[in-house]
Amino acid sequence: MTFVPSDRALQDHLVRITERAAVAARDLVGSGDKLAVDGAAVRAMRRAFASAPVAARIVVGEGEKDEAPMLYGGEMLGTGGPEIDVAVDPVDGTRLAAEALPGSVAVMAVARRGALFDPANVFYMEKLISLAAGATLSLQRSLTENLSILASDLGRPVSQLRVAVQTRQRNQRYIDEVRAAGAIVVPFADGDVVESLRAARGEGVDLLIGIGGAPEGVLTAVAVAASGGHMQARLSPQTAGERDRADAAGQPYGAILRLDDLVASPGVFVLTAVTDAAGLAAPHVVDGAVVTESIVIDGVAEPRTVVRRHPMVP
Ligand code: FBP
Repeated sequence: MTFVPSDRALQDHLVRITERAAVAARDLVGSGDKLAVDGAAVRAMRRAFASAPVAARIVVGEGEKDEAPMLYGGEMLGTGGPEIDVAVDPVDGTRLAAEALPGSVAVMAVARRGALFDPANVFYMEKLISLAAGATLSLQRSLTENLSILASDLGRPVSQLRVAVQTRQRNQRYIDEVRAAGAIVVPFADGDVVESLRAARGEGVDLLIGIGGAPEGVLTAVAVAASGGHMQARLSPQTAGERDRADAAGQPYGAILRLDDLVASPGVFVLTAVTDAAGLAAPHVVDGAVVTESIVIDGVAEPRTVVRRHPMVP
């Protein structure tokens, strides 16, 4: 069966999967235990997937089968239907959820079979994401040069550009360069899928730059493509072990990856808030039911918000 990204019935099944993960994580929000948050979401997501009418193959999941018994790369899920490749992150921002901080989400991206980039267990990826300046921005240019291109495209001085960077030691050089150029750093501690989405939609952030998770980068690419944004990436292994894994998989890590290298054909991106995030409310109880808020982006219709009630399990 052919995968049609704009198929509402299919989208509905997909949203139910991230909803289940968010509802399961809800009980552990604020628990201080990020592994427990993740574990609950992974189990719920996999259970929901098992009954979905799709022929899904996990490309970006929880890791290799030996380390991750559920949602591992290569796992086949679903009861049959359109043949899709899937990238999942049952909770992006597990620490945020464990500490009951905003910005935590359950996310999934799907595309036709063979269309998603496999980061080959390299954990880190350099990312450049923006709504503006089309394909003119590039990781081959200096950040200072990219900022001046962005400023002229937006018709604003560099001093008014807002640049999201994840606060990690490995990203200090980006922070220094953004500040030296006179632009504004918008730091974030965790959850780069939500921040990437803001940059791709031009929502309070003009650019996201820096090294974050590679799995999150693949997920994000589907949303950026469907939002009409611009993205370049480059695998950035941080350890010798990661470099060895890339070499063993024949995955070159110096090459610039364009949007269509990351996702070769249109896909669907779904996200459910675990804590308040992306303008969506965390799962909350209304009249004895848990209400979830999600967003679906398919690149055809306007992004839509899905609000759904779930019976409370005693
Ligand atoms: P988890 O929820 O899986 O912990 O990821 C959170 C996150 O901030 C991602 O959004 C980001 O891509 C990644 O961690 C960066 O990795 P690290 O925390 O190792 O720097």
